[in-house]
This record gives sequence, C-alpha cells and structure tokens, in this order.
Amino acid sequence: MDRRITGTTRVIVHLAYPSRHLRTPTYFNAYCTKKGIDAVLVPWQVAPENLSDAFAGLRRIESLAGVIVTIPHKTSVAGLCDSRSETADFLGVANVARRMPDGRFHGEMFDGAGFVQGLLREGHIIHGRKALLVGAGGAATGIAEALVRGGVDRLAIANRSLEKAEELAVRLRNAFRGRDIVAAPADARGFDLVVNGTSLGMKPGDALPVDPDTLEAGTLVAEVVMEPDVTPLLRLAEERGCMAHKGVHMITGQIELLAGFLLDEPGA
Ligand SMILES: NC(=O)c1ccc[n+]([C@@H]2O[C@H](COP(=O)([O-])OP(=O)(O)OC[C@H]3O[C@@H](n4cnc5c(N)ncnc54)[C@H](OP(=O)(O)O)[C@@H]3O)[C@@H](O)[C@H]2O)c1
Repeated sequence: MDRRITGTTRVIVHLAYPSRHLRTPTYFNAYCTKKGIDAVLVPWQVAPENLSDAFAGLRRIESLAGVIVTIPHKTSVAGLCDSRSETADFLGVANVARRMPDGRFHGEMFDGAGFVQGLLREGHIIHGRKALLVGAGGAATGIAEALVRGGVDRLAIANRSLEKAEELAVRLRNAFRGRDIVAAPADARGFDLVVNGTSLGMKPGDALPVDPDTLEAGTLVAEVVMEPDVTPLLRLAEERGCMAHKGVHMITGQIELLAGFLLDEPGA
C-alpha cells in the first residue's frame, strides 16, 4: 500500500539515547501501513540532560500523538508525565506517553505486557515457571511485574547494582503478598526461565548477563535486546540445548497495545 505523510498525519517520536539501535519504528510503521492508520513513528536521539527541555517543547506540538520511550529515558519520562496508569505509577517507569489536546502527557508501561505477550505468542507458558530475571532497569522492572502477574512460581532478580534488585523484590513482595520473589545472583541453575532484561549484548565485547556455566539444557532463555537479532546469550543458550526466545518478540508483542493507546484506534 502506498503511504504518504501529509498534513493530517499524526506524529509519534521515539525518544532514546543513542537512537541508532532502534527497531520499533520499523515494526510500528509497518503496522500502521497494514492497518491503514495515518500515523508515523520517528526516532529522536535526545541526550539525558536535554530530555526535560525536549519534553517541554513536545507539549506545544499539536499534531503530536505522543512519545515512545526507551533506554535511558523511561524513569525520567514517567516523572515528567502529568498522570500515569496504575502500572506506570507502581513501577515508576513509562515506555509510552500520550499527548492530550491541552499538552498534558499520560504515561503507560507496556514492556512487561509486551514481553509476556511475545512469549505466549511463541507458544511458551509462564504460569508455574521458576524465573531468573537479570536487570532492574526500566524494561526489567516491567517484565518483573508482568511475570509475577502472569503466575510464575518463583521470581529471582539479579542486577549489577544489587540494591536496585533488592528494592524491586521488596516492592513486588509488598504488592503481591505471599509470592516467592527474591534478589539473587545471576546463577541460572534451578530456573526453567532465564530472562536478560539488561542492555548487555548490544555492544560487541559485552559480558554475558548470566554465568554461562550455570545454563542448563531445556531452560527457556529470553532476551530483551533486539540488536543484534541473535545475541551472544542466545547463541550460547542454543549451544547448551536451551530454547532461545529473541528480543524482537517483546516489541511485536506490544505494537498493537502502543498503537491502541497512542492513537485511540479501535482495533489498532
Ligand atoms: N525488545 C523490546 O521490545 C525492548 C523494549 C524495551 C527495552 N529493550 C531493551 O532492553 C534493554 C534495557 O533497556 P532499559 O530501558 O531497561 O534500560 P535501563 O533502564 O537503563 O536499564 C539497564 C539495565 O541494564 C543493566 N546494565 C547496563 N549496563 C550494564 C553492564 N555493563 N553490566 C551489567 N549490567 C548492566 C543495568 O544495571 P544497573 O542497574 O546496575 O545500572 C540495568 O539493569 C536495552 O537493550 C533496550 O534496548 C527492548
């Protein structure tokens, strides 16, 4: 289908720093084309120290439907929003914000829902799993909440800054009373779902997020990193007889949610 950007096209900007690794615009714009939605998503590279100025300017852009947000801006954008969904409020992060006609922004967080949706669409089960999640940043925080909500039997959270993993585990235990949620080292033994929720794997030479000697055959190993498509962790997982689940499934799992939220498109 021929798709043109015109004076009525609704614009969404994807805030990131850096922006060169972004793949969401490709999927989002393809989705709009397929559905005949007159909207476009454009990557914008904004340094953290300029985010608040950029955000203030976005309040004045009348054709702006909203923003999609990724590393490192999710926590800051949640704070800059005038209101937040229950999930974004609880997590303190937003990966999308809708612009209201008066310039206010309403934040939402779909990373967790997208990640779970991506797993389910690939035929995996979450309920009853023993999960190790590495990471306690924006994406990992959303995934942690969604995994608990999705019924994992145990959730262990590992992170370079251990205090962030501990704080997240305490927050989730308070919200989901009686559930087995702990901070732990990045040791995959005894887990049947291992998730890399960090940015490790994006850059050549990055360390592996988990101790490679602890990966056991049969474990489902899932990524958030989308670029490269197959990360060193996923390659290692395949070598060890694990099931590998790519980061791209997390974005394809939430495109529909993002479009529906930003564009208020019935059935978008
Ligand atoms: N597939 C998708 O749809 C999707 C969606 C959202 C995000 N992502 C990807 O998810 C990744 C994380 O994004 P984010 O928004 O959560 O970023 P973030 O909030 O900045 O969090 C980064 C996480 O990675 C950890 N980390 C960073 N560098 C590290 C290093 N050298 N060694 C050990 N740990 C390190 C951080 O640990 P500390 O807490 O110790 O700093 C933190 O847990 C990015 O690669 C992003 O592209 C993918």
